[in-house]
Amino acid sequence: MNGTTAHSAIYPGSFDPMTRGHLDVIQRASAIFDKVVVAVVVNPQKRDPLFSLDEREEMIRKACADLENVEVTHFRGLLANFVQRVGATVIVKGLRVVSDFEGEMSTALMNRSLSGVDTVFLPSDPRWSFVSSTLVKEVFNLGADVAKYVPPAVLQVMQSKRPAPRPAET
Ligand code: PNS
Repeated sequence: MNGTTAHSAIYPGSFDPMTRGHLDVIQRASAIFDKVVVAVVVNPQKRDPLFSLDEREEMIRKACADLENVEVTHFRGLLANFVQRVGATVIVKGLRVVSDFEGEMSTALMNRSLSGVDTVFLPSDPRWSFVSSTLVKEVFNLGADVAKYVPPAVLQVMQSKRPAPRPAET
């Protein structure tokens, strides 16, 4: 970004798993901000993650290997505390659909109230506006090919976890 302040952005999430929509937001944020820290939450509120913290971080690292100003890490507890601890100047979030906005708006205001750091929203690319980690996991577990929805590095790890074929449905 132009100006005298170097902008270091945090892109937080569960990334269980990272999707092509997440990767698109990271690529666009990396072109806007001086540095982007992708921060994986340690205990996602969504119970029973499919991927361990290490797997989630590793998949993101591989998918972002060509982005020199992107780092991958994790945090536990309050995002507002983490943002202050690492000295980030902005939080980045993707917005897929209008219904995302309601929750994200109050979260952004709470994070600004707690940390003084603002959230910048990037509209999701329409190609990925219907793609969520939850849906990707659901269709994958029911046998669908998810190559269109996740980066190749993620697909590789997912395939190693594919559940055994279920007996024929009656
Ligand atoms: O990918 P997700 O699950 O939509 O990401 C949600 C995440 C990790 C960004 C959010 O749950 C979060 O910030 N968790 C940290 C705990 C926290 O700070 N909660 C208060 C938010 S105002």
